[in-house]
Amino acid sequence: FPIEQKNYFAGAKAIDNKQKTTNLVLKPGLEGVPVTNSGICEINGTEGKLNYRGYPISELAQKSSFLETAFLLIWGELPTENELKKFEKDVQMHRRVSFRIRDMLKCFPESGHPMDALQASAASLGLFYSRRAIDDPKYIYDAVVRLIAKIPTMVAAFEQIRKGDDPIQPQDDLPYSSNFLYMLTEREPNPLAARVFDRCLILHAEHSLNASTFSARVTASTLTDPYAVVASAVGTLAGPLHGGANEDVIAMLEEIETPDKASLFLNEAIAKKRKIMGFGHREYRVKDPRATILQDFAEELFSEFGKDEMYEVAQALEEEAISKLGPKGIFPNVDFYSGLVYRKLGIPRDLFTPVFAISRVAGWLAHWREQLGANRIFRPSQIYEGAKVRNWQPLERR
Ligand code: COA
Repeated sequence: FPIEQKNYFAGAKAIDNKQKTTNLVLKPGLEGVPVTNSGICEINGTEGKLNYRGYPISELAQKSSFLETAFLLIWGELPTENELKKFEKDVQMHRRVSFRIRDMLKCFPESGHPMDALQASAASLGLFYSRRAIDDPKYIYDAVVRLIAKIPTMVAAFEQIRKGDDPIQPQDDLPYSSNFLYMLTEREPNPLAARVFDRCLILHAEHSLNASTFSARVTASTLTDPYAVVASAVGTLAGPLHGGANEDVIAMLEEIETPDKASLFLNEAIAKKRKIMGFGHREYRVKDPRATILQDFAEELFSEFGKDEMYEVAQALEEEAISKLGPKGIFPNVDFYSGLVYRKLGIPRDLFTPVFAISRVAGWLAHWREQLGANRIFRPSQIYEGAKVRNWQPLERR
């Protein structure tokens, strides 16, 4: 395996002190502020292009598998045949989770959001495997394998438990994506469904310095363990402005009800400054290339398993929104069609974001490794606008 020994404590170069102090300019949301060098993912937001380690996303989605893509992202190169076999085997061997984790999941309230259950269970892995040996390549490899292997098992286990059933054990002879769908339903998935799901995981695996990846890098920069890195990223991904948008898209389409009501809905939303979920992106000024591919997947599934009535609503909304929001550079993003695909695959709505996390863990781990390769703890500054120094007052004088 291409695991090189590095001194992770050596540190990235500090900026010189003169640059540090003068002319602080606030950039809300850090828009346009580079916070790291990276060789993992390249986005061209004006041309709608996305490459992982130089490979176009459309090619990977067509020809690769999720585990091969994860390997590429994390270790930098496509695996050889032997490397891929070993990686797949190692992931397969680590799919099971301790009975203690299953018991912990049983104690969670069934009404709780599966993202919260996932964040807690990802963090709990640190209790089982933490040695914080992040300068040891074997520890890094094992942590990568464990996280990629166990996260789907924990997502599926919580789903079974909240329905009142026992978790379904992973099935050894099923490939990664088929096994996840199997653990959700206890039925071996249709091969087309399994392949589409695997390709969805490829599409969601990495997207440069989005909020959850930044969160992962900030956490990684403290040299904590990788389970804490992933747990913090899961918490960040859960928000409706990030991964959680795919759930809200379906709710929005259901609210619109029929294609003829899309125009009225959009006009009212624009008038009330309400955001159209699944639209807009900090990086893209054109349609997100992943949205185009996901739309194709949705159509593939619909032609095999029957149409989703919400698809026509989505198309009508997209057409209207492109004419009204397109001039501002607001187009469909990855979340606009992913929900429709997941729905057709029989995945419950509140599992859309956990499924996103199953995939994005590959990107987070790639950034974790990269951060450790040239680490300096993140510690941005602020512009203080609070009260001037004042004296404490006793209760009777307040
Ligand atoms: N619907 C309507 N208007 C939108 C919009 C949307 N989905 N996304 C952005 N805009 C508008 C804003 O209202 C704002 O308009 P203004 O300049 O007239 O005030 C302008 O575009 C800039 O929006 P802003 O929220 O500042 O952009 P951002 O780069 O900070 O945010 C997102 C990016 C993704 C958070 C934002 O587009 C959004 O909230 N989208 C909906 C949620 C979503 O789909 N998230 C998934 C992202 S993959």
